[in-house]
Amino acid sequence: MNVRQATVEDLIYIQNCNLLDLPENYQMKYYLYHALSWPQLSFVAEDESGKVVGYVLAKMEEEPSDVPHGHITSLSVMRTYRRLGLAQKLMTQATLQMAQVFGAHYVSLHVRKTNRAAIGLYRDTLKFDVHDIEKKYYADGEDALAMRLNLKEPK
Ligand code: ACO
Repeated sequence: MNVRQATVEDLIYIQNCNLLDLPENYQMKYYLYHALSWPQLSFVAEDESGKVVGYVLAKMEEEPSDVPHGHITSLSVMRTYRRLGLAQKLMTQATLQMAQVFGAHYVSLHVRKTNRAAIGLYRDTLKFDVHDIEKKYYADGEDALAMRLNLKEPK
């Protein structure tokens, strides 16, 4: 198993993982927007044969009213490759790059409040905090936890 930076050639396989694993799906132009704007931030996990089995799609938020920060748009690992530490590795690589390349102060994400596996990963393993609860954030009416991880050492 290997984790590496995603390329434009990977996007079709990333989209395939996303369609299999999550109800939040995107058009190819949205994947391209990420890969072309922030090529340093998105990563794939591949198996021994080079098949893409997981991804993290990430971006920087450009709001003049806030400090620079990253955002995890989407993360998934195919079912038979779970609990091998791949999501943790994907997240660590993406957030390291946000801080090193773009000076991100923190990283944010949304997760369904019933998504036990992902909340376990973010809160317990990666030490994200719940910043807010966004009511009816998802198309089917489910609430989102808006989570954040500080990437700057406290002074
Ligand atoms: N239940 C509880 N805790 C879990 C679970 C689970 N099912 N899965 C992972 N964790 C926690 C554990 O603490 C785990 O450490 P451990 O295995 O030593 O106990 C830790 O996270 C690291 O797990 P990884 O092996 O790195 O996680 P994995 O590669 O299995 O991927 C993921 C986790 C991405 C949530 C996977 O289950 C998945 O693809 N789910 C479907 C898609 C999804 O929900 N994506 C996130 C949506 S939110 C967003 O995209 C911003």
